[in-house]
Amino acid sequence: MYKTLKEVTETATKLNMTIGAFNTHNLEMLPGMIRAAKEMGSPIIIQTSIDTAKYIGYDVLVSVCKHMANTHMVDVALHLDHARDFDEIKNAIEAGYTSVMYDGSHLPFKENIAKTKAVVDYAHTRGVSVEGELGTIGGTEEGISVSEDDKIYTRPEDAVEFVKLTGVDALAVAIGTNHGQFKSKTNVNIPLLKEIHHVVDVPLVIHGGTGVKEEDYPELINNGIRKFNVGTELLVNWTQEAKDHFAQTPVNRSLRHNIIPANEKVKEIVKHKIGLFMNTNSPMKANK
Ligand code: 13P
Repeated sequence: MYKTLKEVTETATKLNMTIGAFNTHNLEMLPGMIRAAKEMGSPIIIQTSIDTAKYIGYDVLVSVCKHMANTHMVDVALHLDHARDFDEIKNAIEAGYTSVMYDGSHLPFKENIAKTKAVVDYAHTRGVSVEGELGTIGGTEEGISVSEDDKIYTRPEDAVEFVKLTGVDALAVAIGTNHGQFKSKTNVNIPLLKEIHHVVDVPLVIHGGTGVKEEDYPELINNGIRKFNVGTELLVNWTQEAKDHFAQTPVNRSLRHNIIPANEKVKEIVKHKIGLFMNTNSPMKANK
């Protein structure tokens, strides 16, 4: 079924697992991502940046996700990632996205609260979930870059106030991860996550999932991470696979010969990640 972020993260909380939120960059890789979730028996969150949504079309993305969710009997939420533009948030919601992120992390605390709350009010009356962000996640994403020195970790006391005053359905936490980190791995601040999880009641979100060590997943999930974003790993592998095939294939052969292997590579990674996100070796109840 076609679901909201709130619905799929509720399932994740009940089962002490996390839901993979995978960034798609084109239409090609999308069906394989949803089929991967179906084969693994897990919900999935498909997310796009505003630029990708404009390139593919908000309505096209909604149609594909909704259709596949219903015909493949798999829970799919469609989420707008890192939106700072209220008009684009409205476009996504009007087209049928079931979840949006308002990223006010660059704003002063009070302004972040006010702007996020305005998005929450708008989205909730339309049955759409909202993710907010507090603190800064390092790295670069779609041209927005944060250097190591400018990073601000999420403070637990701010998280409590932010969640209470905005009414967000999920909170992205800054605990040391970086967007776009695919050549090395990061050290996540698990003690800080524990503190935040202890005082905040909403599902927590990891950004920059590509750079997170897989051996850290269980601790993250057991401490409230219910949405786990992975983008760059899919992008890099799709591109590499497509490049290799394009380099070898005569120009008059069907594009399928280049693109299907790239889509299959993404599907394989999504299945692998979902297998870990299901957290089957950990107890059902989250430590809180
Ligand atoms: P990566 O591209 O680093 O996996 O991060 C994805 C993300 O957090 C999208 O918001």
